[in-house]
Amino acid sequence: MNIAIDGPSGSGKSTIAKRIAKKLGISYLDTGAMYRGIAYFYCNKNIDVSDVNAVKSLLGDIKLDVVNDGGIQKIIINGEDVTPYIRQNHISMAASTVSKIPEVRIKLVELQRIIANSTDSIIDGRDIGSYVLPNATYKFYLTASSDVRANRRCIELKEKGQIFSFEEIKADIEKRDYQDKHRDFAPLVICDDAIVIDSSNLTIDEVENLILKNIKY
Ligand code: DC
Repeated sequence: MNIAIDGPSGSGKSTIAKRIAKKLGISYLDTGAMYRGIAYFYCNKNIDVSDVNAVKSLLGDIKLDVVNDGGIQKIIINGEDVTPYIRQNHISMAASTVSKIPEVRIKLVELQRIIANSTDSIIDGRDIGSYVLPNATYKFYLTASSDVRANRRCIELKEKGQIFSFEEIKADIEKRDYQDKHRDFAPLVICDDAIVIDSSNLTIDEVENLILKNIKY
């Protein structure tokens, strides 16, 4: 069984997916973290992720592994655990930008499919139901207003000691939404067969219950 949870940033996908994975005893894969890992690799080398040729020329040098360490997902790049660095705010936009490059996506999708086919899982991202696993057992599209999402992101960043204004985060989120929805290859779309949940006025428990109500496992 595979459960696909897609949606824009800050819609609560990863929080919900982690809880559902725990409840059902299945694996959880955060595909956004994989794009963040790739973005971090380039940013750390001071390579502009919008320079498509520069990105493509080094892509073959990247060995990315996803490791489950006691229920916590870790992203390992060329043997180094980069998980602590991939949640920085500038990495979010870099991940969105680098994810536009088809060769980057193809590399990560291959790994995502291997993981999905090896275990019952809940996978969150942008293109899981539409491209990575079009035959996923269940598909959900989680969304929320950009105000609510920006507010959640500000709180999350503040907890990590990163202080940004609400306006700055909201503008970033809207720019990222636009990039993720308008790229040519595997953009963020709502699948016809996805259950759409707007979490703007729902608690985490309510969203979780709505999803679980639709799953037989
Ligand atoms: O879910 P996230 O905010 O950690 O994702 C970071 C970026 O990675 C997102 O803006 C677009 C990209 N991404 C993607 O293109 N496809 C996915 N399946 C997951 C993330």
